[in-house]
Amino acid sequence: MKALYLVGFMGAGKTTISEELSAILEIPVIDTDQYIEQKTGRSIPQIFEESGEQAFRKLEKEILKELPTNDVIISTGGGVFVQEENRLWINKKGISFYLNCDWEELERRLIGDTSRPLVQKSNLDQLQALFEQRRPSYEQATYTIDTANKTIHEICIEMKELI
Ligand code: S3P
Repeated sequence: MKALYLVGFMGAGKTTISEELSAILEIPVIDTDQYIEQKTGRSIPQIFEESGEQAFRKLEKEILKELPTNDVIISTGGGVFVQEENRLWINKKGISFYLNCDWEELERRLIGDTSRPLVQKSNLDQLQALFEQRRPSYEQATYTIDTANKTIHEICIEMKELI
């Protein structure tokens, strides 16, 4: 089976959903942020702080091509699918799922988050603008999954039926 890529904004549930989907489909999950952290020996906030966002985006692009493209779930960082080159790669090599979550819910989840550099440096209006700006990219995923009012399990079953 082709790799399954989960895409969407920070807080959309990519990590949680990928773990449940991994258990259901019995295939491993790779998280691009974790992979970058392991490879560089630095945390994501550290990379942003020491090397800047552009360097992080370059790493995302590089590692994407190193990851397996079969029998795996890849949980992407919220900016991965925004880069056109990455989008083309992902949609060529695998099946992408945009986890669509409305802004009100994302806002609730991101308020008070201290782990994400973009949340740290932006106010809520700026984050919402970033979300709106990225949305057309996310919508180029193979499938859009509306996550509102569904359990994690229901979302995964819906995904399973699509593949
Ligand atoms: C980012 C999302 C983060 C992480 C980094 C940048 C983004 O991943 O890759 O902080 O640009 O949206 P999550 O979407 O898993 O929070």
